[in-house]
Amino acid sequence: MEKKYKRTLITSALPYANGPVHIGHLAGVYVPADIYARYLRLKGEDVVFVGGSDEHGVPITIKARNEGVTPQDIVDRYHKIIKDSFEELGISFDVYGRTTSETHRKTASEFFRRLYEKGEFVEQTSQQLYDEEAGQFLADRYVTGTCPHCGFEGAYGDQCEKCGTSLNATDLINPKSAITGSVPVMRETKHWYLPLDKWEPKLRQWILEEHKEWKPNVYGQCKSWLDMGLQPRAVSRDLSWGIPVPVEGAEGKVLYVWFDAPIGYISNTIDLLPNDWEKWWKDPETRMLHFIGKDNIVFHCIVFPAMLMADGTYNLPENVPANEFLNLEDDKISTSRNWAVWLHEYLRELPGKQDVLRYVLTANAPETKDNNFTWKDFQTRNNSELVAILGNFVNRAMVLIQKYYDGVVPECGELTDFDRQMIEETQKSVKELGEYLDVFKFREALKEAMNVARIGNKYLADSEPWKVIKTDPERVKTILNLSVQLCASLAVIFEPFTPFMSADLIKQLHLDKLSWDMAGKFDIVAAGTKLEKPTLLFEKIEDSVIDAQIEKLRKAKEENEKKNWKPEPVKETVDFPTFEKMDIRVGKVLDCKKVKKADKLLEFRIDDGMGGRTIVSGIAKYYAPEDLIGKEVCFIANFEPRKLKGVVSEGMILSAVNSDGSLVVIGPNGEVAPGSSVG
Ligand code: MF3
Ligand code: ZN
Repeated sequence: MEKKYKRTLITSALPYANGPVHIGHLAGVYVPADIYARYLRLKGEDVVFVGGSDEHGVPITIKARNEGVTPQDIVDRYHKIIKDSFEELGISFDVYGRTTSETHRKTASEFFRRLYEKGEFVEQTSQQLYDEEAGQFLADRYVTGTCPHCGFEGAYGDQCEKCGTSLNATDLINPKSAITGSVPVMRETKHWYLPLDKWEPKLRQWILEEHKEWKPNVYGQCKSWLDMGLQPRAVSRDLSWGIPVPVEGAEGKVLYVWFDAPIGYISNTIDLLPNDWEKWWKDPETRMLHFIGKDNIVFHCIVFPAMLMADGTYNLPENVPANEFLNLEDDKISTSRNWAVWLHEYLRELPGKQDVLRYVLTANAPETKDNNFTWKDFQTRNNSELVAILGNFVNRAMVLIQKYYDGVVPECGELTDFDRQMIEETQKSVKELGEYLDVFKFREALKEAMNVARIGNKYLADSEPWKVIKTDPERVKTILNLSVQLCASLAVIFEPFTPFMSADLIKQLHLDKLSWDMAGKFDIVAAGTKLEKPTLLFEKIEDSVIDAQIEKLRKAKEENEKKNWKPEPVKETVDFPTFEKMDIRVGKVLDCKKVKKADKLLEFRIDDGMGGRTIVSGIAKYYAPEDLIGKEVCFIANFEPRKLKGVVSEGMILSAVNSDGSLVVIGPNGEVAPGSSVG
């Protein structure tokens, strides 16, 4: 249902301040939210774009414990890194707050109290997991165990990351404390529950009937939650880090992080507009949009709306444009495996390339299904789209104006059919672009924007001003005037996607303020305007830059594999006679060479003290043959002879398999006569 609205409140998921943000967060949430906010501002609409850090929750306390610092130290560190890097990327939050602020403590406490006093909570005593060694209850990520749905052994007490099911700690099979590793016991404790079941009929009506226009991935997830039936959900926890439950008899209890965090959107609005915030949350003419990743859908479409319904004075979100996940080089992004491109590192390692990242993440946005980021694609999109299409058109137009008119925009003469056709095509693309943005199809919108640059290139290529200048200089004035107008359109339509480039172009064209209705108009830059000397909007990215990033990822993977490597389980027991059947000897390598047409194999001539023998071994990848000559090795002497690539191998050389799969030849630790037995 399309709603008439006067203003839009845009929220973007508050990232946990327990680590920096990576490209997955950006592509899923912050880049699309920022594109939309910038688009609405260009249209002159009233917008508030809210962000902030989510500073409670168990992962933060676990991290603090591991590092031997306080949770406050952790959130102070990451809040700053995250806030600064968002700013540098041009994410245009109107406010970026934190849930450890005084405003938030007050706002969340009051929210809880209002619901408490209205009788919206159910108090319930239940058995919860308790770690006797640590002397505390275990909630959420403090417990790991086996997922009851898919059998994954590393599931957390709040969610299984393998199958995505959200869990209660007590659902886990074989639960284990993440603090001490001990097996928890059950202990009784009291908590406050929000009866989601009470709101189920209203939620069904609101989502399933009134919001059929929501993205299929969002609508589908909501439907399956609702169809499973909603249960009361605990909104408090037995923890010390968090906002104290503001009622009598709640010592040692704090608000559940997913209760307080979305209220953070409200608190941050209050910090921004202390006197005016209610209009943004309660006036029915305000439209609220939540930009989130797919793991947050249930909280933003069911739990938070139920909280808002329970309060009764707030608006519900109009839409929740959630994205799927972004993979990196065909592998799931993972913080624990360090498989990610971290924003703060990107900004340091590729300075001045904010727009490129924004562009590539939008072009590959995981809007309808999981998508993939690769460094090669990043390079290609920069070099053959931003540089070769957009940058190239603008630069050609600007350089020609410098050359022919000393940088002064020429008059536009009479239009030809060819000109009119170009104008029409541009206007069509601009219109479609806006329609895509209106329905959160940012990838398609970006394609249309790039199409306008393509139209420009084609216009110049076909009208050939560099030739016509010799025969019809008046005509060239019109061509270049229209080209400059097209540059102005590009400055507008690309602003939501690549704001830094746009700011550059604004300067070069001497435009003072952009607005969306300038796009597709051809009288924006006045004839006679003296343009700035053109500079390149985008630069080619060389292989060496990309190779360095790929190498960095390779190293991360290698380190992670080393860290996680475990020896193989020991095989079935054998008795001594069985062992004795194997005849292991020491031999000296007399000669070693590559086997022809077999890149894995080396052919050894071994002094075995018994006249010598030939053995073929699959270790060519790990050794240069000459390095092995003269070495002593161990081999199985009574191994059945086998023919390998035409060579008869009379035994097997022993080697150890390393954690990365590489092989190391085993030999005696001291001189031994060739032919000696090993046992
Ligand atoms: N911190 C959560 C996450 O990263 C998102 C919180 S969104 C809010 O998944 F609505 F709770 F603020
Ligand atoms: Zn599972």
